[in-house]
This record gives sequence, structure tokens and C-alpha cells, in this order.
Amino acid sequence: MMLVNGTDRRCQSFPVLIVTLFFLVFLGGFLYSDRTKFIAFQVSRPPGHQEKLREPFNSRVPTAQETPSRNKHGLDRDAEEGLDGGNQIIDLSMTLRGPKMEPPAVEKEDDDEKIALRPEECDIFTGQWVLDNKTRPLYKEDECEFLSEWATCLRNGRRDSLYQNWRWQPRDCSLPKFEPKLLLEKLRGKRLMFVGDSIHFNQWQSLICLVQSAIPAGKKSLDYAGYITVFKIEDYNATLEFYWAPFLVESNSDPPTMRDGKSDAIIMPESISKHGRNWKDVDYLIFNTYNWWLKYPTMKVLRGSFDEGATEHDDVERHIVYEKVLRTWAKWVEENVDPTRTSIFYSSMFPQHYRSSDWNNPDGINCAKETMPILNRTTPLDVSTDRQIFAIAANVTRSMKVPVHFLDVTTLSEYRKDAHTSVYTARDGNLLSQEQRSNPGIYADCLHWCLPGVPDTWNELLYARIIALS
Ligand SMILES: *[C@@H]1O[C@H](CO)[C@@H](O)[C@H](O)[C@H]1NC(C)=O
Ligand SMILES: *[C@@H]1O[C@H](CO)[C@@H](O)[C@H](O)[C@H]1NC(C)=O
Ligand SMILES: *[C@@H]1O[C@H](CO)[C@@H](O)[C@H](O)[C@H]1NC(C)=O
Ligand SMILES: *[C@@H]1O[C@H](CO)[C@@H](O)[C@H](O)[C@H]1NC(C)=O
Repeated sequence: MMLVNGTDRRCQSFPVLIVTLFFLVFLGGFLYSDRTKFIAFQVSRPPGHQEKLREPFNSRVPTAQETPSRNKHGLDRDAEEGLDGGNQIIDLSMTLRGPKMEPPAVEKEDDDEKIALRPEECDIFTGQWVLDNKTRPLYKEDECEFLSEWATCLRNGRRDSLYQNWRWQPRDCSLPKFEPKLLLEKLRGKRLMFVGDSIHFNQWQSLICLVQSAIPAGKKSLDYAGYITVFKIEDYNATLEFYWAPFLVESNSDPPTMRDGKSDAIIMPESISKHGRNWKDVDYLIFNTYNWWLKYPTMKVLRGSFDEGATEHDDVERHIVYEKVLRTWAKWVEENVDPTRTSIFYSSMFPQHYRSSDWNNPDGINCAKETMPILNRTTPLDVSTDRQIFAIAANVTRSMKVPVHFLDVTTLSEYRKDAHTSVYTARDGNLLSQEQRSNPGIYADCLHWCLPGVPDTWNELLYARIIALS
């Protein structure tokens, strides 16, 4: 009797077990593809200063994808294969013009009257992209000699240019018009420095292009001094600087020879002063660290110090390490920054667009075929940004004694799947060949951004904050 009953119970629970097992496998697979494989795309090659010393305006190209073998198993291809099986082929333009989608807003004459709040009082990060051929782009590729070759998408062969014509419109106010001379006045006798990874390099170049037209020839120059790249504005005795520190703290990816991302990063989460001493006495400091965290679910943490030749490391869950790093950074800021002199900014996560299934484009190949922003806002956007990292950054910056301006560029940039350099870029210092371009599944860069483009908007937001400060 007992045995029969026991068998019965097993038989009854068997289907439940199977279903549970399937669910777990499915979930596991989903998480695997959502994170681990996605990570295979993250390795970026930041601009190498060595190369730039030789050819200052042709910085080495950051690559999003390192090895073809990895990319062969990349997400987008998987997504593509998965969705190709369906018999419904959705035309991209149909998707974008679907009835539920809000049409792109077009600037109206009476915009200013409707917008009540002043930028200082309003959440400038909530809003929408509006098509504005009249005032965008803010400059042309050819007008900015300081642009790296890898960012000039049109010159590199991109045919559609609408990605340059979108303006960020906050919901409750309007952004102030970007006036280069006004910013230069604010910066007179001062230093502004972006600290972080190659996306901040991208933004730093954008800022140079935004102001350089207001500076006469011969009164502006680029200098490379080790870790720091400096744009000097002579008449104003001002500098716009970029400091390479992809983790903010000390890491084996800091030296110029290690910036290609080919070796796995090992970091020292509590060691920041070596970098930090170069940030002292800067008047505007803008930090970020994100893209180098995504390669693996864990981060390699050095046991000991690089200086002492340590090589052993522990693998620690990345969110735990991220928080530790930000606490180290926060402590450095609190101990070394005089808030009456220096303004501190923290850029939130700069998103990547490697999975066209994230925006329901079954014909997509990562970001390579995208010419329009995501305009369908009926459901919350999820382009695989690590929101837990976002929450940690928002939390830590909010809890600091020194005020930190949190630049929430994540969501607004998530809409811009159309604005990455994709295959219209360079790699290892050379423009992609025709053959490479025809293989976007492997070669498209959906991490860095064309200029002019989205980084100009990040700078407009930064500008709004800077000019609002007395
Ligand atoms: C908008 O996105 C949602 C969710 O992804 C989708 O169900 C809906 O069909 C989309 N609408 C249009 C018009 O594409
Ligand atoms: C803006 O320019 C693009 C391309 O030049 C064009 O397709 C579009 O219709 C224009 N939009 C407006 C609102 O003028
Ligand atoms: C130029 O700016 C630096 C700070 O960036 C300051 O130390 C220096 O005194 C300034 N020089 C002049 C001539 O104003
Ligand atoms: C944010 O901070 C609060 C309190 O300091 C804490 O309870 C919460 O868990 C934190 N959230 C994250 C995501 O770190």
C-alpha cells in the first residue's frame, strides 16, 4: 500500500517536475542569453593615446566586438535566427509607422509658451526625441577638425543622416540653447574634465566640437599628456580634458597598452588615489564607469597591489564590486573636492544596442539596420541595460555629503538605436573595409556614437546644469 501510494505521488508530481524543469531551463537560457552572451559584445577598445600622439585627430577605434569566434555566437545572430523561424515578416517602416506609435513630434511655434518650468527646476531627463531639421545638427562633421575618424559616420559611408536631426525635448521645460560663448565664459580660467571610459571620450569630443567654432584658429589646441588629453582654449585660459580610467579605480586596463580590452580586466576596488591626484583642482568633473563591467557576471578583484606584483584575484559578483568601487570614489570625492569650487557630475549608464529583438525588429542585425529612434513608448523600454548598476550609482551619488549632479542619460539614449557608429567606423586605426562593412553581425559597433549625434545631447544637458550653477 505504502509503496503504491508513494509511486502514485511520484507519478502525480512527475509532470509538475518536468514543467518546473523546463521553466528553469528556459529561464536559465534566457538569463544566459540576456547577460552572459550579451557580455561577449561589451569589450570596447578605448582610444589609445599612443596612437593619438602620432595622429592626434585619428584616434584609435574602439571596437565593440573583439573576436569573430565570439561574435559568431553573438546575441543578435541568435535573435535573428530565432525570429526568422516565424512566418510573419514585419516591415521595419511598418513597425515604426504603426497606429499605436506616437508620431515623431515636430517642433511647434508655441512650444515655449506651453513650457512652464525653468530648466533648473525641471526633470530634463524625462521627455522625448523630436525631429528638428531646423536647429539640428548643432555642427557638421566637416566643421570640426577635432573629430576622430571613427565618429564621422557620414564621411565613413553612412547614407542616412536623419540620426543627426533629433532634438531632446524635456516634458516640462525646454533646454537652453547651447551658446558656446556663454559656456566659455563660465569656463574662463577653469578646467573641465571627463573621467571614465571611451564613451566619455566620445562625449568629450562632442563638447570640443560644440564650442570650437567660437574660438579663432590658432587659439585652440589638443595636447596629449599621458593619461590626460587636453583641449586648450587660449583666450579663455580654459581646458576641456579627458582622463582615461574605465573603472575609476586602479585596474590593469589603465596603461595605454592594455586599453584594447583584449585581456580580462582585474581591478583594485579600493585604490583610487593614483588616478585621483590628477583630478584635484579641476573645476568641473564628470565621471562614468559602466561599459567595462558587462563582460562577465563577476569582476576580477586583485588580491594585493599591482605595485607589489600581485597577480592572484578573486571573482566577485559585479554589483557587489561596483558598489564598492563607487563607495571608494565617493570617499575620494568627499575627502578631496572642495564643493565651493568644484562641481561633480556622474553620468549614468550609456546603453548599447546589440539585440534587435529588444525593439522587436526581426530583420535587424544588432543596431546595423536602424535609421530611426525607438518611438514606440507603449511599453517600457528594455535594451538590456544593467539597471541594478544604475540603481547603485543613483543611490551612492544621492547619499554623498558633496552634492553630485546625476546625469540620467540612460533612458533617453536607450531610444537611440539609430545613432551608433555601427559599421561606419574604424577599427585598429583603419576604416572598416567594404568586406567588413558587409558583415555587421561581427563588425558593427553599437556601443559608441556617431558625431554629431547623441553625445551632443548629453552635453546640452550638462550645459544646462553648468550654466544654472552660479
Ligand atoms: C509597441 O511595442 C509593443 C511592445 O513591444 C508592441 O506590443 C506593440 O505592437 C508596438 N506597437 C507598434 C505600433 O509597433
Ligand atoms: C527632415 O529631413 C528629413 C531628411 O532630410 C526629411 O525626410 C524629413 O521629412 C524632414 N522633416 C521635417 C519635419 O522637416
Ligand atoms: C589659468 O587657469 C589656471 C587654472 O586652470 C590658473 O591656475 C591660472 O592662474 C590661470 N592663468 C591666468 C593667467 O589666469
Ligand atoms: C539604496 O540605498 C538604500 C538606503 O541607503 C538601501 O536600502 C537600498 O538597498 C539601496 N539600493 C540599492 C539598489 O543599492
